[in-house]
Amino acid sequence: MPQYPVALVERHILDRAHRTLERVLARLESTAEVAGTLGAPELAAMVHALLDDVDAILRDHMAWEEQVCYPETDRLAATPWATQLLRLQHDQIRRLLDQLRTDDLGRAGSHQRAVSELRGQLYALHAILGSHLEQEERALLGLLVAEPAAPRADGLEEVEPRR
Ligand SMILES: [Fe+2]
Ligand SMILES: [Fe+2]
Repeated sequence: MPQYPVALVERHILDRAHRTLERVLARLESTAEVAGTLGAPELAAMVHALLDDVDAILRDHMAWEEQVCYPETDRLAATPWATQLLRLQHDQIRRLLDQLRTDDLGRAGSHQRAVSELRGQLYALHAILGSHLEQEERALLGLLVAEPAAPRADGLEEVEPRR
């Protein structure tokens, strides 16, 4: 069985997760677009379902990046600063998610105003997350490539895995 370098496996996982997160981005945008056309209970149900899906995908992905992928990237870049900005963006994304979760559409004030605030938060999350994914792909995918294999003890060459 071929041995795939760790960095190459991480690159593949990252790439797949980001394709899924692109669908999340589209849902954030479409929810913001229709928000003004829905009543409070309908909109609250839609936002909660969206947040449940976002939480399930995004929080795990960010945790994996912080625990596995970013340390590997820092190691390959030979600096602990390679992923610093990306980590700060994760904090910002978590804060926005928490804020969306705790804001109550039915709280005091007009529905129109609550919808307007919600749309602002959804568009803000869409912008930050979209930009974060782009930056991550620029910063990480270039580094997460196969490192030159260490010479084998038996003198034979490793066969490159097929892509
Ligand atoms: Fe990330
Ligand atoms: Fe990511």
